[in-house]
Amino acid sequence: MVHANYLITFLLSRLDQQKSNLFQIKVHLQRNTCVFDQAYIHPYAFQPIMNLKQALNNKLPSAELDLLVRAYDVVGDIAVIIIPPELFHRKTLIGQTLLDLHKNVKVVAKRSGVYEGQHRTIDLTILAGENRTETIHKEFGVKLLLDLRTIYFSARIGTERKRIADLVAADEKVLVMFSGAAPFPLVIGRHSHPQAITGIEISKIAHAYGKKNLRMNTSNCPIKLINGDVRDVVTKLNETFDRIIMPLPHTAQDFLHLALALLRDKGWLHYYDIKPKDHFQISFKTIQDACNKANRCAVNPQLFFCGHISPKLFRICIDVQIV
Ligand SMILES: C[S@@+](CC[C@H](N)C(=O)[O-])C[C@H]1O[C@@H](n2cnc3c(N)ncnc32)[C@H](O)[C@@H]1O
Repeated sequence: MVHANYLITFLLSRLDQQKSNLFQIKVHLQRNTCVFDQAYIHPYAFQPIMNLKQALNNKLPSAELDLLVRAYDVVGDIAVIIIPPELFHRKTLIGQTLLDLHKNVKVVAKRSGVYEGQHRTIDLTILAGENRTETIHKEFGVKLLLDLRTIYFSARIGTERKRIADLVAADEKVLVMFSGAAPFPLVIGRHSHPQAITGIEISKIAHAYGKKNLRMNTSNCPIKLINGDVRDVVTKLNETFDRIIMPLPHTAQDFLHLALALLRDKGWLHYYDIKPKDHFQISFKTIQDACNKANRCAVNPQLFFCGHISPKLFRICIDVQIV
């Protein structure tokens, strides 16, 4: 066994070298520092900054080049970049350079801050290209119409959605709490054969995009999207599920008691969280505490790394069976 801290460092250095093809590297974490025997990491759907840095090489002084953030996202035909305040005066140049670099990018937008508020939206400012924030993003054969200014969407979680879809067995009933514009239901519906999928989303705008996306795609099973607060909707559902997906990091814990009440015996929970590297076991403890209160038991936990928010902060998923 190797020490957990060492392994996290190892994972990140491998990621830097092989960003595009890194997939499910198995790591072993020391039993006494973490409840998990192994963890997995997925490739990220972000573009390396290197070619942007190269393109700006003769246009910016090296001190300013060093300030460019590590990566930018491409969602459909929109590139979204974070620009530090010290480079704001260069934003038009950076936007235009990014546009020139990618023929398929039609809009470059600057992302300010982090996902905020109940609907997890983000402030975007157009830097170059067409004046719009709506786009069609393709993910594992699914077309998603999205407005990046008014709804939450992260292309970086695409591989994670496919991972979950591949776990879904035939005839399962699946619940996606916090379904947004329905990427989880649609990727699962396309790649697996469940009995039915239900998605619940509080934002009227995200729900409306979800409905449009439902019409734009085919699915192997019925998908029902419900607009409302999970707290209110689940009390009226009157059904149970084989698998519940909870993609609401930071806040999912407030909904665990509801998920546990709806999950069948031996059903699977996918619990998303954001934690520093030494705190992954806290997320599992949160699930265990909720299980204790509900007279249930959490077994077979597995830890998945789904991305990092900052160098020391990870987006994780805990897959756990509830008996
Ligand atoms: C992190 S986003 C995930 C969206 C989608 N699953 C995805 O992968 O793109 C979380 C979503 O949960 C929704 N949300 C937040 N609180 C909610 C609640 N109490 N009930 C239903 N949806 C909620 C937000 O509006 C947001 O769209």
